[in-house]
Amino acid sequence: MQIRDSLRALVESGTLKPGTRIPSSRQLAVDIGVSRSVVVEAYDQLTAEGYLTGRRGSGTSVTGHPGDGTAASALTPPEETAPGARWDLRAGPSDSVAFPRAEWLRCATAVITGAGRQELGYAPLAGVPHARHVLTGYLGRVRGVRGRPEDLMITSGFAQGLALICRVLLDRGHTALAVEDPGHPGEREFIGQSGLRPVGVPVDDEGLDVERLAACGARAVLITPAHQFPTGVRLSRRRRQLLVDWAREVDGYVLEDDFDTGFLDPADRPPALQSLAPDRVVYAGSASKTLAPALRLGWLAGPPELMESVEHVRAGWDIGCSGIEQLTFARFVDTGAFDRHQRRLRTEFRRRRRSLRAHLDTQLPDAWLPGGDGGLQAYVRLPPHIDEQSLVRAARRRSVLLRGGRDYSVSPAESPPALVIGYAKANCAALSRGLAEVGEAYREQGEPPREPVDRST
Ligand SMILES: Cc1ncc(COP(=O)(O)O)c(C=O)c1O
Repeated sequence: MQIRDSLRALVESGTLKPGTRIPSSRQLAVDIGVSRSVVVEAYDQLTAEGYLTGRRGSGTSVTGHPGDGTAASALTPPEETAPGARWDLRAGPSDSVAFPRAEWLRCATAVITGAGRQELGYAPLAGVPHARHVLTGYLGRVRGVRGRPEDLMITSGFAQGLALICRVLLDRGHTALAVEDPGHPGEREFIGQSGLRPVGVPVDDEGLDVERLAACGARAVLITPAHQFPTGVRLSRRRRQLLVDWAREVDGYVLEDDFDTGFLDPADRPPALQSLAPDRVVYAGSASKTLAPALRLGWLAGPPELMESVEHVRAGWDIGCSGIEQLTFARFVDTGAFDRHQRRLRTEFRRRRRSLRAHLDTQLPDAWLPGGDGGLQAYVRLPPHIDEQSLVRAARRRSVLLRGGRDYSVSPAESPPALVIGYAKANCAALSRGLAEVGEAYREQGEPPREPVDRST
């Protein structure tokens, strides 16, 4: 009874986890000095009660399957799975086939082969100096980002950068962080969990409405100025200036999330907002969209006095991220492989976007795209008579997964009908077939009214 009760208590308290193997009856009998039949009886009783399970040859273990540790961050809620769905047109990172395995491996091999005691030791908290140096040069060249390698920190993805900035803002007395509406719903929740209040500010054809921002009371804002997520709208030149003027006036900060500019045509992308006001803008980037989220590589480049606080906060959190990954990435950038890889992806995604536009013209002729070209997803505005959510459900019944604009909106009830169609995971053939199904679902929604439609964001 003592054996049975103590094992049961260990299972119930979670000390013994599902799937854990327990000692054989023979071993336990020897260990605690009782006859084996006593242990066998206790195990039989616990098996009958459903606590243990035993199979001949594989021993006895705690019932159930080991957990897969999927406690999700607000930023990456578990993707709804829809078994049998054939076309995944949801916004998200590139398909795994796009990852440049051979080139990445070449860089990793060179780094590991040459790694000495220093490279294999703890990297400095803000990042390996060589990687920061290479990345600063690269961001200066392709995005016009200003600043010294010392003012750039390599983080575990944008997520960590955002968490650090939230903490620093809280420490400096901020209570709110403005965000774009529509915007990333996971980011809003993540910011809320940090203790800051996320305040939605509307986005229109010129990007974030800076006058509304100024009226909302927040003194810091998170923004995707080059290619707004998810509408694809670019912050106008006028608003860029208004935004940095605002930040100076309120003694505040702008966190610039430059998450997907690698997919914009270089001739057609504005320089980083940070280049206008390095004293007020923290530039943030990530390898998640251009390479893979699994690398957990991101970076922050900001005003030295702010970055000092960021480093101070981080010192209480972790001891930096993988030096080997950082050096591999630095080599990937330095050898030109990163430029080549992004060029390849841009060509492919341009092709997909053209195909998407062509199919939209035939399948959803009354819909339009308010944002610019490029990126990994399209925000498709629908005429007002369309019920967005029932269209999304009808598409799902036709084996197509996509999201409605409401999923990104701060006030879904007031959000005009829209679809967010991602083409990172769907090639031209999948887009064509998936959109044909969406077109069928769209036509089921009924005839459009005759009056003209307002085509603003
Ligand atoms: C708007 C936006 N910013 C940034 C990121 C990158 O985040 P992380 O670097 O933490 O993967 C994502 C996700 O891919 C995103 O959708």
